[in-house]
Amino acid sequence: MCGIVGYIGKRDVAPLLLEGLQRLEYRGYDSAGIAIHSSGKGGGLKTVKNKGRVRDLEAKVPARFAGTTGIAHTRWATHGAPNDINAHPHTDAAQQVAVVHNGIIDNSGELRAKLTADGVELVSDTDTEVLAHLIARAQSQTLEEKVREALRHIEGTYGIAVLHADFPDRIVVARNGSPVVLGIGEKEMFVASDVAALISHTRQVITLDDGELATLKADDYRTYTTDGSRTAASPTTVEWEAESYDMGGHDTYMHKEIAEQAEAVDRVLRGRIDDRFATVRLGGLNLDAREARTMRRVKILGCGSAYHAGQIGAQLIEELARIPADAEPASEFRYRNAVVDPDTLYIAVSQSGETYDTLAAVQELKRKGARVLGVVNVVGSAIARETDGGVYVHAGPEVCVVSTKCFTNTAVAFALLALHLGRIRDLSVSDGKRIIEGLRKLPGQIAEILADEQRIAKLAADFADAKSMMFVGRVRGYPVAKEASLKLKEVSYIHAEAYPASELKHGPLALIEPATPTVAIIPDDDLLEKNRATLEEIKARSGRILAVAHSEQEKADDTIVVPRNEPELDPVLMGIPLQLLAYHTALALGRDIDKPRNLAKSVTVE
Ligand code: F6R
Repeated sequence: MCGIVGYIGKRDVAPLLLEGLQRLEYRGYDSAGIAIHSSGKGGGLKTVKNKGRVRDLEAKVPARFAGTTGIAHTRWATHGAPNDINAHPHTDAAQQVAVVHNGIIDNSGELRAKLTADGVELVSDTDTEVLAHLIARAQSQTLEEKVREALRHIEGTYGIAVLHADFPDRIVVARNGSPVVLGIGEKEMFVASDVAALISHTRQVITLDDGELATLKADDYRTYTTDGSRTAASPTTVEWEAESYDMGGHDTYMHKEIAEQAEAVDRVLRGRIDDRFATVRLGGLNLDAREARTMRRVKILGCGSAYHAGQIGAQLIEELARIPADAEPASEFRYRNAVVDPDTLYIAVSQSGETYDTLAAVQELKRKGARVLGVVNVVGSAIARETDGGVYVHAGPEVCVVSTKCFTNTAVAFALLALHLGRIRDLSVSDGKRIIEGLRKLPGQIAEILADEQRIAKLAADFADAKSMMFVGRVRGYPVAKEASLKLKEVSYIHAEAYPASELKHGPLALIEPATPTVAIIPDDDLLEKNRATLEEIKARSGRILAVAHSEQEKADDTIVVPRNEPELDPVLMGIPLQLLAYHTALALGRDIDKPRNLAKSVTVE
């Protein structure tokens, strides 16, 4: 949420920053801006910023905006409406300091009042502007000390990058709760909130820890703590390829990411299956057999799609490992003073590994002595580092704001974990083999589902007029219904509700009428007959029905038939056609699919 990028070196900085911002735009897209140390006449800091997308900013950057050091930002508004003035970078009145910031300064109101009382005129409505003034007014000698002095007044979260007119040879950055990654090049250095912005230039990165600061010079970097002690950070190599961030011939990232799911699932399985013992090897899990046998509960925490994948995970763990398990939104859990039980294994699930609510839940659990594992996509992200071990999801970078391939891979990662736990407890060898065979079939079956895209696109065209839609499923189908409903809402802006099919007659049936179509997830499992009865109830109210099933459903107006796998793995496959349904409905409505209104990826604020 919000993207930061910075560069110091020998190259012309404005094009580099604009390219970095394009790559980070999925983190926020209501305004953008850049500040540079100008090498033009008069030197000093020069800033250009505006409301709107990065392409609007590009059009506004003057031809002579020369310099080799700069910082930039793409914004998802928290404090202050999206407009030119509230866009970052923020400066002090004398244009001595420029700051870009991700996060929220909780005590900005109080700091604004103090600055105003001291005669400082604040021009924006943002929390960030106070930082620019505090750094400009700091009495310390070096830029590093000035930044530390200013940060001592700040309560809240930040990832910041700072330029100062008197220190043109450096960028100072700091992290507390919002990601900051340094990119180490050959006589050039980068900083970004996400490797996406720097991977086409360097794969050598350092992820700052909370409470860490860094100075970047063209040929050197230093990291240290808020009290000034040096920290020993050495670069690691990013595994993802720069090309995985490209659109690869698709019109949108959402389409690309839906299309690459067969490959992505192949990746999460690769090297993990152990045929000899009908189980899987999960290298980084850090959970020994004794712990796996004695744990009494599993609690899974995540937000949005990650939470839905966690619900699928909880069912898989109950079914295969026979451990009571449930999932809860991390955003709720962290506020409800939950009982933290030493016999419960907690699992945090997150694509980005940076979602603030999930991270805060992990931190709270750790404070109370709980054992927390992670099911995370981004290697080395905050949640991956805070947890005691876990399973990487290996979906590759997910750029579209809405999650697709990562949701699917996360569900598969949970199937691996459930199988692993099951085989340590009482899942039989034959059931282990059965699940492994099912897992191996997934990539081919996903490809089969995706091959039906044109038909799904035609169905979607019929739903584009709907004002509201209902998604229903029972047990394994219910998290699929929730995720499909979220997907449709996010990209098409059509109102959608998800209910357990069994709950329909307890209230929501009142909404069913010809203009409110229902999507019913109906696997061919032991609940099939009950699900068919639900279709009857909907039909009796003249509701239009699209079924996702293993065979044509007589009561449905249309059926998307998905291939059969093992029943436990049905949720993995049944969600995929519904991603396409959401995508094509949004396309028919002309929506901005990769950047839905009001949303941004990686919600690093509360
Ligand atoms: C929905 C979506 C969001 C995220 C949620 C958690 O399509 O993408 O609901 O799933 O914000 O994000 P992560 O998984 O990064 O923690």
